[in-house]
This record gives sequence, C-alpha cells and structure tokens, in this order.
Amino acid sequence: MVDTVTTIQNELDSLKKAGTFKCAPVIDGPMGPTVKLEDGREVVNFCSNNYIGLANHPDVISGALKAIEKYGYGTASVRFICGSFTLHDELERGIADFLCMESATTYVSCWNANEALLPTLLSEGDVVISDEFNHASIIDACRLCGRKVQRLIYRHSDMNDLSTRLDEAKDARRKLIITDGVFSMEGDLANLPDIVKLAKKHDALVIVDDSHAHGVVGKTGRGTPEHFGVSVDVITGTLGKALGGAAGGFVAASKPIIELLVQRSRPQLFSNALPPAVAGGALASIRLLKNNPQLVEQLRENVRYFRDELKKAGIEALESPTAIVPVIVGDTAKAISLAKKMLKNDVLITGFGYPVVPEGTARLRAQISLAHTQVHLDKVLDVFRKLKFDGEIDG
Ligand SMILES: Cc1ncc(COP(=O)(O)O)c(C=O)c1O
Repeated sequence: MVDTVTTIQNELDSLKKAGTFKCAPVIDGPMGPTVKLEDGREVVNFCSNNYIGLANHPDVISGALKAIEKYGYGTASVRFICGSFTLHDELERGIADFLCMESATTYVSCWNANEALLPTLLSEGDVVISDEFNHASIIDACRLCGRKVQRLIYRHSDMNDLSTRLDEAKDARRKLIITDGVFSMEGDLANLPDIVKLAKKHDALVIVDDSHAHGVVGKTGRGTPEHFGVSVDVITGTLGKALGGAAGGFVAASKPIIELLVQRSRPQLFSNALPPAVAGGALASIRLLKNNPQLVEQLRENVRYFRDELKKAGIEALESPTAIVPVIVGDTAKAISLAKKMLKNDVLITGFGYPVVPEGTARLRAQISLAHTQVHLDKVLDVFRKLKFDGEIDG
C-alpha cells in the first residue's frame, strides 16, 4: 500500500512533469514598480496589484507607523470580547464614506469578508445567484452556505441566463446576486446596470466584490458602481491591492446588514481584528486617494500608453477598462515558460493557466501601476516585442 505522503509527493511530481508547478520569486525589499530579487537583480514588477503605487508610499507607511505607536501591535482578542480600537471605527467610517454607503465593517482579508457575508445573510429557503467567473473566495463563500441554501450559477455576464436563474428562484425568501465588479483574469466589468435592473424586477439584492476596481475604476476610483452610475446593495473589497496593498477586506452596506455581520459573522466573532499597522496604512491610503482623485486618471494614462504600444507591436490583449492587460498565449506550460523568459529579461509577470483560467486560454497577465514610469513600461514593451519577433507570442 502506498502511504499518504508518497501520494502527495506524486501529486507534486505530476505538476512538475506537466510544467505547471509554480515557483514564485522571493523579493528582498519593498513592493514597487521594480523589485529586488533575492539574487540581487532589480526587475520591473508587472504583476502586483499595487495599482496606484501605495504599497510603499510614505504617507501610507507613516499611517501604519503612527497606528502602531498609538495602539501597539494588535488587539490580542476578537472584537466582541475585548473590543476594537477607535482606529477600526475610523477606518470603517472612512470606507463607508469613500464608497457612499451607510456603514462598513472590516475583516483580515476580502476572502474572509466574502466568507463572512453569504453564510450570515442566507439560510434555509434563500438563494444565491453567482457569475460563473466569480473569484474563488465567492465560490467558496457560496459553498459555505451549505445545502439548505439554493446555489445557482449563471453563465459569465449572460443577462438572459441570470434572468432565467432569477425566475427559477422566484419563491425564495431572500435572493442575492453576487458578482465580481472586475473579473481579475479577463479584466472585464460586470454588467451592473442590467444586473441592478433585473435585481429590482425580481426583488433581489446585488452584491459586488470590487477588489480589483477600487482605486482603478470609476472617475475617482470608487469602483464599478461609480463607473456605471448605479447603486448596489452591498460592496465587498480588499485593502490588499490598490487601497494600501498590505491586507484586509471589508463589507460596505446598509446599517442593518453591517450590524448583522458584526453580530453573527463567524470570521469576525472568532478571529482577531485587523492589526493597527494594517488599519492605519489602509486608512491613510483611502484618505490619499480621496484627496487625490487625479491619481486614477494618471494610472489610466499609463494603461493607455502600454496598450497602444502593444497593439502597434501586433500583440492583441483582451480589452479592459482596468489596469489588467491579459495576453492570451494558449496552454498553461507555454504561459509559465514565457513568464520565465520574461524574468530572464528582468520583467516579473505572471503566467496563468488551467485551472485558474479555462483550458487553452492560458495567458500572461500584465498589471500596470501608476508607479511605473515610461522607462519601466518601455522596458516591458521591448521584451514583449522580442518574444513576438521570435514567434513566441502569436498576438
Ligand atoms: C475579486 C477578489 N475578491 C477577493 C480577493 C481576495 O482578497 P484578499 O487578498 O483581501 O483576501 C481577491 C484577490 O485576489 C479578488 O481578486
């Protein structure tokens, strides 16, 4: 009989054989437009979610340091037992105010926020209707609701299919439609205007996870509802991408929804609050963005330049109004091998393949930051052109 550890090792070996074993780089310094690898090489960083360059911004670091000086290292307890810091209240008011929502509450990640939200709002007789391309945290949050909650999936951004699912759910007590605002692998946006219309017609609530949209989408970076000029019922998001880049997540909604989450959601009842340094840095990030809405337009200029030059080189990227630029290359092993070649040329970019994206649509996903200068963008473009010239990228 083969022992368990051997079967696990076999699984790892088969990933290596297929060329799909992931080897993430180790970085010896802050997250910026370039990063220093442990071998001392400085490479252009084209795969972080540091969209507006706040991960190592002096104001954000100062917010984190001040918070740690005032509140120390952590709460050493869950919030409902020992209380939370005034800083948590300030951050949550800041988030609600930034997103024009009544109230907000925070978690240690958006993964946690999504897993807190759905099982708290839904029980027997309820239904959640989810886009098939939603983030893994939403998929898992739906599963966490258990068998008593009906779980329906609609084809990606297919409004006819969503309408059919809503018809199927007509007798449910509570109906929630949940969608990513920005789909991170494609960079496309949820069709919020039509989702909101359908939700109204069917008396359903709309939840948007705008993790990749905050700081990026909408005139002032307030996300997909701002972009489309619509209101939604619940917004979840991360503090680990544009809004600081450390960690943390939140739910913003009406007061009763947030109160219920504070009373009932398990990740808040049984897990500590955000560490002060993280909360302080996130608050500084949100204030910075609120006071400097022009940052969002500056990011867009970088994206426009990169996309235009890519096109001129004959390389087609999936269209997107975000800072995500996916270049489809086909199979997973090819995407991983191209990412390795990029790294040899001092560009850090990720190749994504199956099962993160559908089979045959593996890709290099470029992510542009406001912190990239023209020199950084040109350097990456040169490597793309070289790979195209060598016939490695079809485009
Ligand atoms: C849409 C979406 N939701 C949630 C998450 C998870 O965010 P966090 O890192 O805060 O758990 C991500 C991160 O990739 C995401 O893209």
